Amino acid sequence: GLPERVKIVEVGPRDGLQNEKTIVPTETKIQLIDMLSEAGLPVIEATSFVSPKWVPQMADQMEVMKGICRKPGVAYPVLTPNLKGFQAAMKAGASEVAIFGAASELFSKKNINCSVDESLQRFDEVMKAAKDAGIPVRGYVSCVLGCPYEGKVAPEKVVHVAKRLYDMGCYEISLGDTIGVGTPGAMSLMLEAVTKEVPVNALAVHCHDTYGQALANILVALQMGIRVVDSSVAGLGGCPYAQGASGNVATEDVVYMLQGLGIHTGVDMSKLMDAGAFICRTLNRKSSSKVAQATCKL
Ligand code: HMG
Ligand code: MG
Repeated sequence: GLPERVKIVEVGPRDGLQNEKTIVPTETKIQLIDMLSEAGLPVIEATSFVSPKWVPQMADQMEVMKGICRKPGVAYPVLTPNLKGFQAAMKAGASEVAIFGAASELFSKKNINCSVDESLQRFDEVMKAAKDAGIPVRGYVSCVLGCPYEGKVAPEKVVHVAKRLYDMGCYEISLGDTIGVGTPGAMSLMLEAVTKEVPVNALAVHCHDTYGQALANILVALQMGIRVVDSSVAGLGGCPYAQGASGNVATEDVVYMLQGLGIHTGVDMSKLMDAGAFICRTLNRKSSSKVAQATCKL
């Protein structure tokens, strides 16, 4: 059956903004994050400690972390691909990090410049340092339903990486349909395989909406026991290493669906819509959220 409560992990400030071509002012990023925490989102992925040569948009990670107003009870995880990133995140005062691997070799190479096995070794180092520092670590597996370079990805590959991340100590593994090609059928086969090896309460889904399947995929995941959903305000984003992929499913659309199902999220829809309107105004673009676009109200 469906859950009473779902945790939404807001990834707009990171997964969303990382894909913007022009550099977004640090002040704008900080204001967006603060508006999202005011809207009641319990987890806001704030930035990433990756190479500024690879992702220039995230070069102000330190300033963003110093500038945000940290709301008690809200987690602000940041991406850390290696020990260097982890150490920089600690200097910036991060209290949670995320490591990000992939189910596909070619995506791993393009995204973080190493093989899947090499990435797991690097993550082991990050995990050890995080354990010493008492920092919780979230894990990502990208390309769980398809890869922009390899095409179809077998569920066994997802199981392999997800299990390794879980065994090494990630408290939650987010399964990413990075390019948004999945369908409810593929999602359910993949989750069936992964939940045999990793407890369902340690899993999240991270859907991009390229083919318009994200909400349907999320609903199937909820029916299969998933309680954590990643989404991005205004449907911002894409991935710089997955050309043509559209943004994450919009947080507004996920919240609307969950409200309709009577599932509690703690998110204030009207404040969330304000945050979406703010960032779209600033980026001078139309929201990708259907709910934000809708003008007919019940
Ligand atoms: P590399 O070039 O292989 O690393 O990059 P290296 O160790 O050889 O170092 C090269 C240079 O980078 C050196 O500097 C290092 O100091 C520096 P130089 O001597 O040339 O001046 N460097 C760093 N600088 C800052 N922070 C660091 C860091 N590490 C090394 N942490 C690396 C390897 C992983 C760093 C690189 O490939 C990278 O930054 N990639 C970016 C990946 C990224 O951010 N991708 C987007 C996020 S993933 C995503 O969106 C998917 C997700 O949403 C889930 C889904 O949708 O499925 C999570
Ligand atoms: Mg993503």
